[in-house]
Amino acid sequence: MISHEPIIWNDTFLTGIDRIDDQHKVLVNTLNEANTRLASGVTRDLLEQITRDLLSYAIYHFETEEGLMREYDYEAGSDAAETRHRAEHRGFSQQVVKLREGLRDGRLVTREYLLSFLNQWLVNHILHTDKKLGEFLLKRGFTQQN
Ligand SMILES: [Fe+2]
Repeated sequence: MISHEPIIWNDTFLTGIDRIDDQHKVLVNTLNEANTRLASGVTRDLLEQITRDLLSYAIYHFETEEGLMREYDYEAGSDAAETRHRAEHRGFSQQVVKLREGLRDGRLVTREYLLSFLNQWLVNHILHTDKKLGEFLLKRGFTQQN
C-alpha cells in the first residue's frame, strides 16, 4: 500500500528505553516535516537535503542502539537477534544511499514513493525490531540515564 500520511506518534511505539524513544520521536518528526515540505513541490535539491539530513541522523541513531547491543551482549543473549537487527539498519542506510545516487544521476522519486518507503520502514522496524531490543535491555536491568 502506498501511503504518505503523516505518522501519528502513539505509545505502541515505545521501547521503554528513553534514549531510543526520544530519538525515534525525532525521526518521526523528521519524516513528517519532510512530508510537509515535499507537499509544495518535489525538487532534486529538496530531496537531496531531506535524504542527507535523514541519513546522518539515522546513522547516529543506529549507533546508539548498536552501542547498547554491544554493552548488554545482545547477540549472545538473543539467539543472534543482534545480527538481524544490524542488517535491517544496514539495509535501510543502503537503500537511502542508493536513492541519493539516483538523485545525483537525475532520477527523482515522488513524495508518495519516498514517504511510503520511509514511514513503513520506520514504523515496522520500531514495532518489530526495536521493541524486542527494548524488552531485552529492560530484562537485563537497563536503567535510564542520560
Ligand atoms: Fe533499530
